[in-house]
Formats: sequence, structure tokens, C-alpha cells
Amino acid sequence: MIAPSILSADFARLADEAQAVAGADWLHVDVMDAHFVPNLTLGLPVVESLLKATDIPLDCHLMIENPGRWAPRYAEAGAHNVTFHAEATDDPVAVARDIRAAGGKAGLSVKPGTPIEPYLEILKEFDTLLVMSVEPGFGGQCFIPDVLDKARQVRRLVDSGELRLLVEIDGGINTDTIEAAAEAGVDCFVAGSAVYGAADPGEAVRKLRAQAGA
Ligand code: DX5
Ligand code: ZN
Repeated sequence: MIAPSILSADFARLADEAQAVAGADWLHVDVMDAHFVPNLTLGLPVVESLLKATDIPLDCHLMIENPGRWAPRYAEAGAHNVTFHAEATDDPVAVARDIRAAGGKAGLSVKPGTPIEPYLEILKEFDTLLVMSVEPGFGGQCFIPDVLDKARQVRRLVDSGELRLLVEIDGGINTDTIEAAAEAGVDCFVAGSAVYGAADPGEAVRKLRAQAGA
């Protein structure tokens, strides 16, 4: 699956930018609060408008403090996936359950330096694991290959039937890096600058998909 990140799109033309990647599986929406990460993007009102403007399921990536307060509201609004950061809460299971109760799929995200072992036990409460392959906060950064060990580890648990979830990767995914991520067992690839920095974003999605075998 390919999930273009609108962080690299033109925020004044979001409906058109969504239309430009109409063949994408999910539209990745980066919500940043200037506290959990040193950047500020958009919030619930913009997501509500986007939901009306596109049929592509929204993959909301909350890089915010206190996700327990906000995450269920994105699910209630109609976001398909609501992913929050393991580092941002002491009770990720409660947040996941609230997202699911509100009708969304729950995603757990880990920063590049956050080990996955402490979370393996609770991954059964989630539909997606989002492995960050850059420090969250900005698009256009370089891919950190070391994080692929986490993807491989979780892939093995999925393949052996111990877990049922999608492995997603976010940060620095482009035509140079997507194959390594695919080989590590990633199911869903987020790409911001590689899609919206291209002359034809729709074509960029098709190319990435073909390369990943996604
Ligand atoms: C970064 C965001 C990413 C970002 C990826 O904090 O979570 O979704 O848009 O951008 P690229 O693909 O340019 O690294
Ligand atoms: Zn993201």
C-alpha cells in the first residue's frame, strides 16, 4: 500500500492535491502540535474538511502530546486510521481501545530511537505499527535504515500468526529506499516529498507501488 503524505502538498489546495493521488491506498495526514514535535501543521477542522473532499481513506498520524484526549475524535470524525506515538502516553492500550470504540483503526508509532520490545505485548490491541524512519517533525529527511530491524521483527510475528497488523513505514521513502523497506516486510509505505515533490504525483505513486510490489 502507498500512502502519500500531504505534509509535502500545497496546504491551500488540499482537495486538488488529494485528487492528484486518487489511486493511492491511504492519504497520510500529519498532525503536529509544536510540543511533541518542533513543528505545527493542522488539526481536526482540516481533517473534517478533507474527509468531505476525498474518498481516499485518511491515515492520520498524530504527533501530539496527550493523544488520549484527541485521537478518538479523529476516529469519530471518520478517519480510517488513527495513529499516535508510544512516547506520548503512559497508557497506549487505553488510547487504542478508545480509537476502536469510536470506529477507527488504531495505530502505534515509534520514533527511530524507540525500541519495539516493550510494546510487542500490546501490539495485539493495534491494527497498524508505524515505524518512523526519520525523526518526526519534518518532511524531506534522509531514511534511517537501522529501523528496518523493527519492521522485520514485527513482520516475523505477523507471519507466524502471533500478531495481526499492518507494518507501515514513514520518512525518507523514495525510489532509492522503498525496496529495502519492502524486503523487510513493510506493508504500507508513506511518502511525502517523493510524491508531492514529483512533477506528476499520481505517476510517482504508481512507480513506488511497482517498485515495492505493493
Ligand atoms: C514526518 C512525517 C512524515 C513526512 C514524510 O514527521 O511523519 O509523514 O511527511 O515525508 P518524507 O516522505 O518527505 O520523508
Ligand atoms: Zn507521518
